[in-house]
Amino acid sequence: MEALILSSSPNTDGLTARCVGAVRSGLTAGGVDATEVRLTDAGVGVCRQCSDGWGTCRTDHHCQVSDGFQAVHARVLDADALVLVTPVYWGDLSESAKAFVDRLRRCEALRGDGSPLAGRWFMGVAAAGGSGGGQISCLEQMERLVGHIRMKRWDLISLCRWTREAKLHAIESSARALARALQEEG
Ligand SMILES: Cc1cc2nc3c(=O)[nH]c(=O)nc-3n(C[C@H](O)[C@H](O)[C@H](O)COP(=O)(O)O)c2cc1C
Repeated sequence: MEALILSSSPNTDGLTARCVGAVRSGLTAGGVDATEVRLTDAGVGVCRQCSDGWGTCRTDHHCQVSDGFQAVHARVLDADALVLVTPVYWGDLSESAKAFVDRLRRCEALRGDGSPLAGRWFMGVAAAGGSGGGQISCLEQMERLVGHIRMKRWDLISLCRWTREAKLHAIESSARALARALQEEG
């Protein structure tokens, strides 16, 4: 049983990294392997809106723009659950997360319930700093993504500088409960 953690901060010792640590700790405690892919290092470019707006993403569920996307896409399809941990930038996902999920959505959304992702658990974490503003709008992007790719919402959780210690415990606890659910579902 394996959960894939996609993280999208350039900082290896910031709040996003602490959130990844909490997720990993909870999953591992619950008996589920957790692997992190850092999207800032994955070489995933932005969608090129091929042809008239759709490329092979629509027909083949495969992106025709060859870069780091394909490798991460394959790992997402293989995982038993997906956890996306992003810093809040401009009240949204960070750019590396947005680049990846924009292309993932195009490849998977039109498969409907035939997507390997359909019915699998999704957990999203939004790490805000500065003002603490934009947590909801960032989570809303994840909410919409999960609907498009037909995953199941396990948790959508945000934190900011004032709530971080309390929420890090909550993130670990939620990830542990997710691991238990994955084990029970087999
Ligand atoms: C380009 C940019 C935009 C940001 N926008 C927001 C924001 O809208 N709301 C907020 O609370 N913090 C914002 N921040 C602060 C980050 O969310 C915060 O520093 C977060 O902890 C970054 O994660 P990290 O510690 O992993 O780098 C922004 C930071 C950057 C670099």
